[in-house]
Amino acid sequence: MEDNKIQLEKLRQKAQKCTNCILCQTRNKVVFSDGCETAPVMFIGEAPGQNEDNTGIPFIGRAGQLFRKYLFETGYGNNDFYIANTVKCRPPKNRKPAPKEKESCRHFLDEQIKLINPKIIVLVGSCALESFIKDKKLTITKARGKIFEIDNKKFIPIFHPSYLLRYHSILEGSPRYYFKKDLEMIKEMVT
Ligand code: URA
Repeated sequence: MEDNKIQLEKLRQKAQKCTNCILCQTRNKVVFSDGCETAPVMFIGEAPGQNEDNTGIPFIGRAGQLFRKYLFETGYGNNDFYIANTVKCRPPKNRKPAPKEKESCRHFLDEQIKLINPKIIVLVGSCALESFIKDKKLTITKARGKIFEIDNKKFIPIFHPSYLLRYHSILEGSPRYYFKKDLEMIKEMVT
């Protein structure tokens, strides 16, 4: 195995045993990642939901299936992306992860970013946006599709797929329209 894969596997094993925050008390499975360790694009979502907690795989529930459908439709293959979340364990009742929980899980995410070393980090939804771009006035609607350069890394926020579940239109200006447009732009940037 290549070095970064070995390191990621060690990190995954460490995360499986993590008891750094209270989410460990209610989780079923630690949801570490999915996708390719050498991918040019890394997606960072919010937190595992019920389906993710049951399977240990991120973005596998209803929002995740829609997300993966869009990825497939915009030409992303299995080697093109890696997926993780701001926290590795499901917050009870799908509440937003608390700042303390995000902080205690952050070292796992930072290490994943370091080892994957993606060309683009995609911040999926406002929770991921707030974790990386420290601007309280910046909403996901304003930030989506823009490129933020921090410490020589490119970050691009996009809508969260759970938002798309509420809006079905694909017409120009709709959330689904922008979601697809942003995924296409990101794909173009790494091709
Ligand atoms: N929503 C997220 O943000 N992440 C998941 O893994 C599933 C749903």
